[in-house]
Amino acid sequence: MDGDTGQPEIDDDFDITATVSWQELAAHQQHLYARRLRELFAMDPDRGRRMVVDAGDLHIDYSKNLATAETIELLTALAREAGLEDLRDAMLRGDHLNTSEDRAALHTALRLPVGTELVVDGQDVTGDVHRVLDAMGAFAESVRDGSHTGFTGKAITDVVNIGIGGSDLGPAMAYRALRHYRHPRIRCHYVSNVDPADLVATLADLDPETTLFIVASKTFTTLETLTNARAARDWLLERCDGDEAAVAKHFVAVSTNTAEVEAFGIDTANMFGFWNWVGGRYSIDSSIGLSLLIAIGREGFAEFLDGFHRVDEHFATQPLETNAPVLLGLLDLWYSNFWDAQSHAVLPYSNDLARFPAYLQQLVMESNGKSVTRSGRLVTGPTSTVVWGEPGTNGQHAFYQLLHQGTWLIPADFIGFARPLDDLPTADGGSMHDLLMSNFFAQTEVLAFGKTAEEIAAEGVAPELVPHKVMPGDRPSTSILAPALTPSVLGQLIALYEHQVFVKAMIWGINPFDQWGVELGKTAATAMVDDITSPAPPAPLADSSTDELVRWYRAARD
Ligand code: F6P
Repeated sequence: MDGDTGQPEIDDDFDITATVSWQELAAHQQHLYARRLRELFAMDPDRGRRMVVDAGDLHIDYSKNLATAETIELLTALAREAGLEDLRDAMLRGDHLNTSEDRAALHTALRLPVGTELVVDGQDVTGDVHRVLDAMGAFAESVRDGSHTGFTGKAITDVVNIGIGGSDLGPAMAYRALRHYRHPRIRCHYVSNVDPADLVATLADLDPETTLFIVASKTFTTLETLTNARAARDWLLERCDGDEAAVAKHFVAVSTNTAEVEAFGIDTANMFGFWNWVGGRYSIDSSIGLSLLIAIGREGFAEFLDGFHRVDEHFATQPLETNAPVLLGLLDLWYSNFWDAQSHAVLPYSNDLARFPAYLQQLVMESNGKSVTRSGRLVTGPTSTVVWGEPGTNGQHAFYQLLHQGTWLIPADFIGFARPLDDLPTADGGSMHDLLMSNFFAQTEVLAFGKTAEEIAAEGVAPELVPHKVMPGDRPSTSILAPALTPSVLGQLIALYEHQVFVKAMIWGINPFDQWGVELGKTAATAMVDDITSPAPPAPLADSSTDELVRWYRAARD
């Protein structure tokens, strides 16, 4: 710890891949490479009972990973060598770990219980968080009970959240996931894409008299969001005879940028704020979650936040060896840095979690898709893998073939629930949910243990078909089970992944809280608009490919 600033001392020249722990892990991988999961289970029959960890309501089995007790010992030693515990404590107390933007990354403060003391940079963080939560709660109640009305006095029936990235993916995913907890009258819609098809298709079924727009943007400068918001305002004004007063009833903003909200023409009395220490992809539990709060109500949203907090507490207090986000983060790093894994599948056995993999794509890849360390030095090994996935059992009939018999090592997270929120009987009087979960368990079993040529031949399969039917096994998976998909459990799941991202980033020495690569794309697109819209013939562009593409587009369009 630096005595003057209270910030953790970050050694910018520290290279984790040059440490003894790293070399030991590399040697250990060579040894484990020859081992089969079948053997590991035979040598340690209790493995499936020992390599499990509970965090809040989440019951996590990591025994079907290519790892032993020694692997965990070496990985946790690596984490200690990287100073993970100090860095975790530093993040939780609000040190400026987002070094390139000189900011704290304090999303964990968004779910601190009321009254918890946390002052950062002179700000009473918990007090401010709960003041905004109270204002959001009161507004949400007025929409839910029908007292907030549209310009003709009718209650709101439809809420359209206009935002993109972190200002869309979280609320859209959670709204879908928590289908069972929604208000019966109110439907939420999510418009993100600057492709006009998104807004047009959404508005086609909506009544302007009963539609509320939430313009959600941390910066309030994002081209897609402001363009869609302007188009939505025009849509409303056209249908209320240009009555500007209607805008106040039908538009609210969620942002950190009061000046831009005002400049856009939304009364700041209708604005719910948050703070620059909340990253976009970590903002579902800030006022960015307003549409979700309207849908599931104050109590549901409080439960959601409490779910996050339960896992935050676990992350903050458990030793590394029994710390769920730490273990899963370390295993992920184990595969990407020592087994050359390039992707990671997330497979929810829950149709309501269909958008969870897409949500995680931003959380994981925008955070850890980095190739320089915090001090700007090139990293010396791979960082984030590609995250992808679809709900089971749909994925089984699409890409699982590659998981089972392809040539890539793709670790997979299976997520499932004990109690269904929907169930129907099967033909034999059983439960469809049990059928779903039979698939979950069977898939993890086959991926891990496979089927040998001998076992297949013993079933009388023709010899020429045997190689085609061999299931190699040793395909790692982690099973994450919870009692049911409740608001709290969803919060717990999100926090579990947020902290895994942090664990990996701290060991790699990268900053998971900035996204300069995306920022450049935003500027480049804005600069290009002139090239494709100016009435004059376009000036030659710097490279012949883009130049030719723009010319072709303009000719075909005009
Ligand atoms: O995609 C880049 C990004 O900056 C994300 O981090 C963010 O979630 C998204 O754009 C939207 O930004 P804003 O909320 O400021 O409109």
